[in-house]
Amino acid sequence: MFPARLNRILPWIFLATGILALIQLVSMLGKFAAKSGLAAWFLHHRLEIAAGLGVAAAMAWLVVGLGALRRRNRLPKFLSERRWLMDILDRLTNRAELERRLAENSEPIFVDADALAATLKANVVGQDKTCVDVAAQIRRRLALKQRGKPVGVFLFAGPPGVGKTWLGKVLADALGRKLLHFDMTQFSAGGFGATSLFGAAKGYVGSQEYGKLTAALRDTPDAVVLLDEIEKAHSDVHKNFLTAWNDGFITEKSDGKQISTTRAIFILTTNAAIDELSDLSRQYAEDPDELRRAAVGALRGAGFAPEVLNRIDRIFVFDPLAGLDIARVAALEIERMISSYGLTVAEGGIDPEVLFDLMGRQQKIGLQASSRDLTRAIEESIADSLIAAREKGAKAVSLVKGPDGVRAEIAAAPGPAKLKAQEG
Ligand SMILES: Nc1ncnc2c1ncn2[C@@H]1O[C@H](COP(=O)(O)OP(=O)(O)O)[C@@H](O)[C@H]1O
Ligand SMILES: [Mg+2]
Repeated sequence: MFPARLNRILPWIFLATGILALIQLVSMLGKFAAKSGLAAWFLHHRLEIAAGLGVAAAMAWLVVGLGALRRRNRLPKFLSERRWLMDILDRLTNRAELERRLAENSEPIFVDADALAATLKANVVGQDKTCVDVAAQIRRRLALKQRGKPVGVFLFAGPPGVGKTWLGKVLADALGRKLLHFDMTQFSAGGFGATSLFGAAKGYVGSQEYGKLTAALRDTPDAVVLLDEIEKAHSDVHKNFLTAWNDGFITEKSDGKQISTTRAIFILTTNAAIDELSDLSRQYAEDPDELRRAAVGALRGAGFAPEVLNRIDRIFVFDPLAGLDIARVAALEIERMISSYGLTVAEGGIDPEVLFDLMGRQQKIGLQASSRDLTRAIEESIADSLIAAREKGAKAVSLVKGPDGVRAEIAAAPGPAKLKAQEG
């Protein structure tokens, strides 16, 4: 849009004008100095002038630099404790304690569970029971007076590719809360993993910076914290979360400050113990409490520490996708993949044969198959033709299953141009 582009160009126009004005000024001063004998004066005092300019630059750097460091909480302690640099509340009271009291005293928040469930169900296919259950839990826990613990610590368990991570995102969106998404497979190695989440102790590498989780929760205390594939993280990393869930705060290692977790919602996802959990979920379909007890047993067997399981408020077991829901999710995935190429799917543009084929393959692979892997195979076979279609200015494509794989064809053109593409 024009105004946005203008906004982007304006600073450069100002800069160019400024440089031109400066050149003009310097040349005028030069002429004046030559005429008035000032040039000789400047030459004589060049050392003093250079020193003066240096001091001015250093002062400016100090002011700007200290401000930046202070904003990032990276000031050395002897400086950060100087009255003139401290946050008013850090200087005159115990800010952490005040924040904790505020969080405890926060008004209950009322959400309409039916409306929330409807939003979740509209976005997440084939998990209606879980969506209703999650919405009810969220309503109940937000309305409760806080007890020095997070709003909730929920575990989403089930096979891969059934919408666990997706429901976490949809939930954050529906609640209007920020999503802090951590892929826990990155923290499988213990030591350093915990450092990047919770900060490093003074004197260690990285201690000038807050951890990713502590910094994010300090800035948005009411976030939805999604700990994806929690079973992949090292048990030391798990242990670091125990105070977050038990005591309502995490400690930033670099400066020892406590960051409150009492307004946050923690969602853990896991693919562990799939077979057992889906059996249990069928067996105790009508009895969530008994399901929870049995699921805890199964997850313990899969290597979850008891103290972690004890702190989980509720376990939601996701069903494997069945029947047409597999096709629905696959179609959505294909649509999203194609839109990442700047194209849309023509109405009715996915050949049913493509989806039929995909469902068959998914059933053959079983619970471990995720629609993501299957659509990735399709993407590989049609990526080049999607790029070509985009280059030709196409807006929409359709996917057709031919004798030798899936093809992408430009849609809505008078005579659809065929593009070569094969599925491997
Ligand atoms: N039940 C579902 N409803 C809608 N989309 C889904 C569903 N399950 C999976 N998807 C799609 O597949 C992608 C991968 O699903 P994801 O939620 O990451 O699976 P997982 O259960 O392994 O966490 C999602 O981003 C979403 O686009
Ligand atoms: Mg996931």
